[in-house]
Amino acid sequence: MSDRILIVDFGSQVTQLIARRVRESGVYSEIHPFNRVTPASLEEFRPKAVILSGGPASVAEAGSPRAAEAIFALGVPVLGICYGQQTMCEQLGGKVEAGDHREFGRAYLDVVADCALFHGVWAAGGREQVWMSHGDRVTRLPPGFKAVGVSEGAPFAAIADDRRHFYGLQFHPEVVHTPHGAQLLRNFTHAVAGCRGDWTMRAFKGQAVEAVRRQVGGGRVICGLSGGVDSSVVAALLHEAIGDQLTCVFVDHGLMRQAEADQVVAVFRDRFNIKLVHKDASELFLGKLAGKTDPEEKRKIIGATFIDVFEEEARAVGGAEFLAQGTLYPDVIESVSFTGGPSVTIKSHHNVGGLPERMNMRLVEPLRELFKDEVRVLGRELGLPEEMVGRHPFPGPGLAIRIPGQEITRERLEILRKADAIYLEEIRAAGLYDAIWQAFAVLLPVRTVGVMGDSRSYDYALALRAVTSTDGMTADFFAFPPDFLGRVANRIINEVKGINRVTYDVTSKPPGTIEWE
Ligand code: XMP
Repeated sequence: MSDRILIVDFGSQVTQLIARRVRESGVYSEIHPFNRVTPASLEEFRPKAVILSGGPASVAEAGSPRAAEAIFALGVPVLGICYGQQTMCEQLGGKVEAGDHREFGRAYLDVVADCALFHGVWAAGGREQVWMSHGDRVTRLPPGFKAVGVSEGAPFAAIADDRRHFYGLQFHPEVVHTPHGAQLLRNFTHAVAGCRGDWTMRAFKGQAVEAVRRQVGGGRVICGLSGGVDSSVVAALLHEAIGDQLTCVFVDHGLMRQAEADQVVAVFRDRFNIKLVHKDASELFLGKLAGKTDPEEKRKIIGATFIDVFEEEARAVGGAEFLAQGTLYPDVIESVSFTGGPSVTIKSHHNVGGLPERMNMRLVEPLRELFKDEVRVLGRELGLPEEMVGRHPFPGPGLAIRIPGQEITRERLEILRKADAIYLEEIRAAGLYDAIWQAFAVLLPVRTVGVMGDSRSYDYALALRAVTSTDGMTADFFAFPPDFLGRVANRIINEVKGINRVTYDVTSKPPGTIEWE
């Protein structure tokens, strides 16, 4: 088994980044909420080292979270970051107080002593850029610790107990604004904790294939394929594990982009030789969407119809007791909630939740331990084509939410598809595809007047959208060079009958959302 690092979450916004940095250095890591860590869970997980995350609480407040005492008795290295450092100090006999001046954002750390965390990166006497976000600070060290770094707002910005291998950082090494942060974490996991760094995607693939074989035995598995990255990787992995015991069902709702449905069939049936049911249900979906323009109503119709069709096709395959799903690690990390209460629903996302219970099937979820970028690496390892693994996200309801405020018809879908394909082709040709999170065209419910040749035109206006983002939660519009936009607009107006005006959307999220509906 690979070495494992346990990350104890105190609710920081950036805890996931700790896990990503550790994994990028070839060491498997998991995030567990602080209140789920017990002597028994530690015994089961067997971490080579523990990292305590930051968090929004204050150690000085009554009832604020603490690290399980058993962590400090394990005999493994412990690294406390921000709140994690403060609670560790408090628990081991030091003192934490509310700081009289807060430090947020970029700060400078004076390295006052050498330490195993800094090895080969920072040396005593150096002044280094770090990223801080704290109000409280440690004012007295626990026995055994010494200061190794000092900042203006924190006398103990970096501390070490080299004998027990306990370390604390008031700053955040996991964010890119601490330029050497990843190397400090690597020193902790490799040099201090002795991890070998052998958690590679190739190794993961081998283990995942074995795990699927053990779980499924001689049983049969159904996998819903959408053409997206996650379901494609699940299908390819399962095929490698269990071959013909797998049947993929591709429900084609007729709302895909140009040539996308054909690509799914070409890759999975023709190239991978996977048993694939391709159900063209566009007639049914468009029939149900007739006359509908409300975004939430469209989403509900598409979600419900998808489940009906999928269920029918899966039953027709017959004899399957397992359903495969592309659940990812961010979906299963239990979040630490201090506020409680549900957040408002801005848009209801269509997914197949509830399906396994309804169909009385057992779940196979081979990607449960992976982040999205790791899924892409696994996809490449499995031989999926680059245009599939590197694809931008695409919403479940497809083009139905890119024709806002008007009925979805085959004619409008066709116009949108052609324009969207030209836009994406130009983005690829300009080498910009990978710099963008998502790019797409939106067919607007407005007709505008134009002049083409000597005659008047009265056709649709189209909006182009492109954003950068790291997780889809926030986004910035992408700043194309003006001549690029001019070229795309020209091509679309000349080549797509029905469009005579092109606009570019410069709204960021918030206040806008990425999709128009
Ligand atoms: P918004 O528009 O909410 O989009 O800023 C954030 C991300 O979610 C995608 N999106 C959806 N995905 N079903 C999906 O599967 C949906 O109904 C849906 N609506 C938005 C959107 O494309 C972006 O990646």
